[in-house]
Amino acid sequence: MAVVRVAPVPQLRGTVEVPPDKSLTHRALMLAALGDAPVRIGRPLDSEDTAATLAAVEASGAVVAGHLGAGEVTITGRGLRGLRPPPAIDCANAGTLMRLFAGILVGQGSAHVVLDGDASLRQRPMTRIAKPLRAMGAQVFTAPGGTPPLVVTGGVPLRGIEHRLEVASAQVKSCILLAGLFAHGETWVHEPALSRDHTERMLEAAGVVLLREGGAVGVAGPVAGLALPDVDVPGDFSSAAPLLVAGALLGDPEVRLDAVNLNPARTGLLAVMRRMGVDVREEAAAPVAGEPCGALVVSRAGDLRATEVAPEEVPSMIDELPLVGVLGAMATGTTVVRGAAELRVKESDRIATVVGALRALGADARELEDGFEVTGGGRLAGGEMRSSGDHRLAMLGAVAGLASDGGVAVGGFEAVAVSYPGFARDLARLGAVAA
Ligand code: S3P
Repeated sequence: MAVVRVAPVPQLRGTVEVPPDKSLTHRALMLAALGDAPVRIGRPLDSEDTAATLAAVEASGAVVAGHLGAGEVTITGRGLRGLRPPPAIDCANAGTLMRLFAGILVGQGSAHVVLDGDASLRQRPMTRIAKPLRAMGAQVFTAPGGTPPLVVTGGVPLRGIEHRLEVASAQVKSCILLAGLFAHGETWVHEPALSRDHTERMLEAAGVVLLREGGAVGVAGPVAGLALPDVDVPGDFSSAAPLLVAGALLGDPEVRLDAVNLNPARTGLLAVMRRMGVDVREEAAAPVAGEPCGALVVSRAGDLRATEVAPEEVPSMIDELPLVGVLGAMATGTTVVRGAAELRVKESDRIATVVGALRALGADARELEDGFEVTGGGRLAGGEMRSSGDHRLAMLGAVAGLASDGGVAVGGFEAVAVSYPGFARDLARLGAVAA
């Protein structure tokens, strides 16, 4: 386990182009594998999660030219129903791979696949996809308790369903819509609030007609085929977020993050930061891959004010909520996050791990059943914390270290490679010192 010590710094400044979007890279690799012409994916994310997805589509028969680290990769698929998956697929830490690929595999005639992952993924709930897939007629099994490994048998006739999600989830919505491509009749998904809509945007770009009514989205199957055009992947808002928070605490004169995906279903953190007194400037640029895109510029805020994150804000900032804990610790007053029980089933139990980490660093933080609260005193002492194998926690620790009195030792820092392998390098570019 790598321990990285992040020292406090007086200021951060400079420009970073954050890594490409993880959600979009996963989706582009999978949808390209369902076409039959070569698709060039420019600026794919080169990370452990997306490497697992590339390996899965390649092992399933898609032809891969280039590699993620080369800045572009070309995928030639085998048609909508032509994948030949291997008997076992290792999804590593990637919930997005397991849940979305399951929706694709149910439509592949030759599939009889065990989908498994690391210790963290093995604890994550899969009944939320297994149940609707079974309702469509698919053969899907989980381990007792509804966790991975997942066993998926393809080629069973599927019928459309109307499914209501209890909790907004892009992974579950995407899984059902992807399975809906193969089903007879209409498949509809209703969400209590809009989760990220990257799958919908990319399916439409690939020529699939989606149905919409009220807030619901659907697809009329079976679909004959899809053809994803070449994709360039914009920067990941969730990777910009730790640098943005660091900039709000220390940016002088400013921290600038270029070419970030600004899909409103992802950027809820901006509204929360503004309520806390941070001035974040958005400079819109041309859309990339059908997604709004632009630069984010932030400077050190004066005194931060505590805020409450309402349940309806949660889906648009689900992966950024840990960082709200750091902002809360540096603010005056009590910052409260509610309606976020979903955090308990992320790469770690992020209610427990965030509160545990903040307390270890001297913050006054408490767990709630469905969120957490932090009473800030305008500063953080620092100390030692662990990532618990969770990339977002490792980044939280580093950001806290920069703004702390005594620095933070982050145990398990290597977890950042799941989504942001160059995180330490980019922080250093802004003036951080880590060793
Ligand atoms: C993701 C969706 C989110 C998010 C995850 C990536 C995706 O999960 O937490 O990191 O790419 O669809 P849920 O939408 O299931 O909450």
